[in-house]
Amino acid sequence: MRILVTGGAGFIGSHLLDRLMKEQHEVICLDNFYTGTKNNLQKWAGHPNFESIRHDIIEPISLEVDQIYHLACPASPVHYQYDPIKTMKVSYLGTSHMLGLAKRTKARFLLASTSEVYGDPDVHPQTEEYHGNVNTIGIRSCYDEGKRIAETLSFDYHRQHQVEIRVARIFNTYGPRMLENDGRVVSNFIAQSLQGKPLTVYGEGTQTRSFCYVTDLVDGLMKLMNGDHIGPINLGNPEEYTILQLAEKIRDRLNPGQEISFKPLPQDDPRKRKPDITKAKTLLNWQPQISLDTGLTETIAEFKQRLAI
Ligand SMILES: NC(=O)c1ccc[n+]([C@@H]2O[C@H](COP(=O)([O-])OP(=O)(O)OC[C@H]3O[C@@H](n4cnc5c(N)ncnc54)[C@H](O)[C@@H]3O)[C@@H](O)[C@H]2O)c1
Repeated sequence: MRILVTGGAGFIGSHLLDRLMKEQHEVICLDNFYTGTKNNLQKWAGHPNFESIRHDIIEPISLEVDQIYHLACPASPVHYQYDPIKTMKVSYLGTSHMLGLAKRTKARFLLASTSEVYGDPDVHPQTEEYHGNVNTIGIRSCYDEGKRIAETLSFDYHRQHQVEIRVARIFNTYGPRMLENDGRVVSNFIAQSLQGKPLTVYGEGTQTRSFCYVTDLVDGLMKLMNGDHIGPINLGNPEEYTILQLAEKIRDRLNPGQEISFKPLPQDDPRKRKPDITKAKTLLNWQPQISLDTGLTETIAEFKQRLAI
């Protein structure tokens, strides 16, 4: 198959691309390298099945493809809040261009949506039926509402134009190739521990998150794309940790005794986050296989190599 991966130079996109290339598909990566890097694509440069196109998806593009994994969108608060209007444009215009492409080529389209559509949830763990508790005017809204409109648009293209869609609601994912300065907890704590800096915890660290290793997530995305269910389907690891527990876990491995520095909680920071993955288990026969300890070992090794520590 000829498969388009938007955001293929990014963290999750590049791991997905590696899997698709290994399965001998023709793969086109579409990316403007805002948060993605050419390094992530390096090993496929010159491969006859691989093509990389520098393109900003807020502009239309014409390609012939069989499947579209639509991941292009800045994903960490630091990056999506840097230019929130652009984030909204990527979410709406970008997704609309990719759905238009899917309609014309009759390609199957998978949207990388997010657990952020649940906002600061009143329901725990979050099931796909929960409609969310999202602030429309806060500093996270460009991303949260952006993904919500992207979901709406996908379902409207499905109902109105019979586009074959798949919608994945991705929960916190971590692994090698996360940017060390993206402000996400796992990358922050690893980079700070390796650099001998205090680990920054926002609030008291009692807010909870669940962490899915990237290869598990990629497996889930591919099962969703190639299965019969359109979603939305939660993809994440249901093991729940407080942010403080995570900080201590990483600190104790890398730099025991290092100080933890507490800072005020940012606006609209969700108090808890944990996926209900019953649907993924029953409909896709998917559940995470990699434990947090194993995933952290892999991630830390790659960070050490990249940061040359
Ligand atoms: N990592 C997570 O925990 C997580 C959780 C939920 C959802 N997601 C979603 O998964 C997708 C990938 O996330 P990630 O963590 O790999 O982030 P990332 O920032 O590493 O990857 C995003 C990629 O999109 C590219 N991009 C951004 N704007 C673009 C534009 N206008 N045109 C073309 N390319 C553009 C970036 O350069 C980058 O390569 C995103 O859509 C994100 O919202 C990620």
